Amino acid sequence: MNDFDDRVRDALANPRNQGEMVDADSVGTVGSPDCGDMLRMWLKFTDKDGQKVIDRASFQSFGCQTAIAVASMATELLKGKTLEQARSMSAADLSGDLGALPPMKIHCGQLVEGALKEALDGTQNRSALINHSSANAPSLSSQIEGNRPSNVKIRLLDA
Ligand code: FES
Repeated sequence: MNDFDDRVRDALANPRNQGEMVDADSVGTVGSPDCGDMLRMWLKFTDKDGQKVIDRASFQSFGCQTAIAVASMATELLKGKTLEQARSMSAADLSGDLGALPPMKIHCGQLVEGALKEALDGTQNRSALINHSSANAPSLSSQIEGNRPSNVKIRLLDA
C-alpha cells in the first residue's frame, strides 16, 4: 500500500464533519459524470471582523473512499475561510494533508470542490444569507431511495 492509500485509510478511520447540518445556511450537491458518485456539502456562516466566514462545513457522500477522505479534510480546512478564500480553493487545496491525488482519483477531489462551489454559489445571488429551502434539502439517501430502480438495493453502512 502506498502513502496516499495509507493517508486515505487514516482519514476514513475518523472522518470529520460527516452528516447533514440541520441549521446550515447553504448546501451544494453534485454528481460525478465519471463514476456516478454523489456528494453534498453544507455550510454555516458567521461574521468575523465584519466579514462573512465559514463557521462550519459538513458533508454526506455516496462516493468512494477518496471522496470521503477529501471531504473530511476539506470541511476542516474551510473553517474560518471567507467566501472568496473558499471559492478560490481547488481540489488539490481541499485535499490538504492527503497530498496530491493520483491521476485516477483527481475527479474524486473535484467532486468535493464542485459541492463546495455549489454551496457557495447558493449564497452569491441571494440578498438573504439564509437559504432554508436548499439548506433543508432532502438527504442524499432519501433522494436516491426515491429514484431507485426496483432492481437496485441500497445498503447503508454504519457511520
Ligand atoms: Fe467516484 Fe471517487 S470514484 S468520487
